[in-house]
Amino acid sequence: MDERLITSSLTVEDEQIEYSLRPRFLNEYIGQHTVKEHMRIYIEAARHRGEPLDHALFYGPPGLGKTTLAAIVANEMSGNLRVTSGPAISHAGDLAALLTNLAPGDVLFIDEIHRLNANVEEVLYPAMEDYALDIIIGKGPSAHSIRLDLPRFTLVGATTRMGLLTSPLRDRFGIKEQLELYAPEDLLEIIMRSAGILHIEIDEEGALELASRSRGTPRIVNRLLKRVRDYAQVRGGGVVDLPTAQAGLAMLAIDEIGLDAVDRRMLLAMIEKFGGRPVGLDTIAAATGEDATTIEDVYEPYLLQLGLIARTPRGRIVLPDGYRHMGYVPPQQSAQQKLEI
Ligand code: ADE
Repeated sequence: MDERLITSSLTVEDEQIEYSLRPRFLNEYIGQHTVKEHMRIYIEAARHRGEPLDHALFYGPPGLGKTTLAAIVANEMSGNLRVTSGPAISHAGDLAALLTNLAPGDVLFIDEIHRLNANVEEVLYPAMEDYALDIIIGKGPSAHSIRLDLPRFTLVGATTRMGLLTSPLRDRFGIKEQLELYAPEDLLEIIMRSAGILHIEIDEEGALELASRSRGTPRIVNRLLKRVRDYAQVRGGGVVDLPTAQAGLAMLAIDEIGLDAVDRRMLLAMIEKFGGRPVGLDTIAAATGEDATTIEDVYEPYLLQLGLIARTPRGRIVLPDGYRHMGYVPPQQSAQQKLEI
């Protein structure tokens, strides 16, 4: 089993815990203020018109609450939520079965929607646009298609890779919202809420420490909270205060700014093996033993946000703060290198 704290996917424990921690309505959802404000307006307007919400696409790094938002849309619209994912729908018929079993007002959530195959996507276009399913009957010259009506539903898609969505699919979403990494004060609020639900004793200093080391991600803050709670129970006085939070995080090899061993390996490889030259994603993946997609989706967004690395047309580079964080003196940049950034 993957014991890492920073992963792109949910563990079984997360699924159980996340279920209980998950906000069910928009007013319980912390952070993502712009997205929340937009959704509040669209939902209220659709409800007043007695129509289903337009199809919505949520995109951004893993663990920020895309699935949670889909469930909130279903609750706010008083519809059922049906959950699936791009890789789980291998044939057009699987999607047809899902669509024909929906009731009016239901929300169909497709996670990792960039991973749908082309045949399946073709079925989705008329379903999204006209609430219709085109079925081909027969083969050869006598083949013809019939059109079945579908209930008026809302498709909610989620992706960590907006760039991989085909444009016909992207264009069929009337609502597109980007989820951003959370600010520490929002994560603090989420920790306090989670600690309340899970009956964990925590003080504000302990919570702030966890918040500032959770790479802007609620899923990670909730995982750290549980692990540090274990630490506090066995090695501390049972309360997650600043010293226990710090000691628990040290045990987990998470540094003062929230980097884990993989982040540090990545920075070190870029500094030591490539001497600060621009490095391609696949090269970083090979040098660190990580998968390129995981680096791009999970590790890079936070390192970019912290300003430790940058993407240039010729590859990734370590920025001066990245050198300093790893205990190196940043190299002097030539005027040419500055121009390239
Ligand atoms: N738990 C995980 N994400 C959350 C959020 N955005 N608001 C409240 N609780 C959460």
